[in-house]
Amino acid sequence: MGEVDPAFIQDPEHRPKLSPIEATGIPVIDLSPIINKAVENSSAIEALVKEIGSACKEWGFFQVINHGVPLTLRQRLEEASREFFAQSMEDKRKVNRDETTLTGYYDTEHTKNVRDWKEVFDFFAKEPTLLPLSSDEHDHRIHHWTNQSPQYPPNFRVIIQEYIEEVQKLGYKLLELIALSLGLEANRFEEFFIKHQTSFVRLNHYPPCPYPDLALGVGRHKDGGALTILAQDEVGGLEVKRKTDQEWVGVKPTPDAYIINVGDIIQVWSNDAYESVEHRVMVNTEKERFSIPFFFNPAHDAEVKPLEELINEHNNPAKYRPYKWGKFLIHRRDTNFKKHVVENLQI
Ligand code: SIN
Ligand code: FE2
Repeated sequence: MGEVDPAFIQDPEHRPKLSPIEATGIPVIDLSPIINKAVENSSAIEALVKEIGSACKEWGFFQVINHGVPLTLRQRLEEASREFFAQSMEDKRKVNRDETTLTGYYDTEHTKNVRDWKEVFDFFAKEPTLLPLSSDEHDHRIHHWTNQSPQYPPNFRVIIQEYIEEVQKLGYKLLELIALSLGLEANRFEEFFIKHQTSFVRLNHYPPCPYPDLALGVGRHKDGGALTILAQDEVGGLEVKRKTDQEWVGVKPTPDAYIINVGDIIQVWSNDAYESVEHRVMVNTEKERFSIPFFFNPAHDAEVKPLEELINEHNNPAKYRPYKWGKFLIHRRDTNFKKHVVENLQI
């Protein structure tokens, strides 16, 4: 067994159980009624909206299948991610995270002051659009990327960009369903995202860990953005805090599914109707694990506050003060990442 580095050691009350409870209740939702179709009123969509609403309320997490993101694209990105992380440390450090663009490689993330057992590559989706891009536009966009764009593996940048386009379409569909489930117009959230959104893709690599009972791949946290769309591989390790009893339960990998969770922004928009739920990642001694979250976040200048339609001065007053998402994000990064939370904005 290797030496225990104290930087990675969780306080006793936050250490994982090595045989976690497996979640059986996290809903797996079939999106076939809306994929490649407009979200319109029909009984299939009504049922779907209900399922999404209950999942958001009861778990804050759900999985989706038949989601429209081509499996081959996901596999290409997973393969590229493996190739990227398999490089020497010297080569990975050539694309170290740039603090201005926040794009690039790093392996020193801390969650609540404890170091996470992982290495990461972050990539921001710049100037995203709902429309498919022509190949010229692809090139144009790639040229705007910084030196942090890795040269290896070949086509890495193109694959990530294509992936972003596809996963974003899923993100918009989910936002429509979530809006409907809250009794809002389907396109209610679109205005916040349409210009200069701050979404990004994160490639996570969790190497095997000699002391998985003491460390975590990612310590407990809630996601600060709107929606997270996560591809996890077959190894497993993601744990979610179950709302009914506050127990940590494992999310069993489902092939080709995406795990969706609502972040703090949806919690604020919905005035706590849907809560952002704590989660964390376990590591293990034998297998490395890869995951790819897409953080679907609104524009830098979006003002986030409980939506007027969902509050009522008498019996449901706004629970949060308005805040600017971009400022909040920067503050969150400048202070201790994942410590700056919307609870600070509670009225
Ligand atoms: C995260 O919540 O930051 C990562 C989730 C995962 O790797 O499963
Ligand atoms: Fe997370």
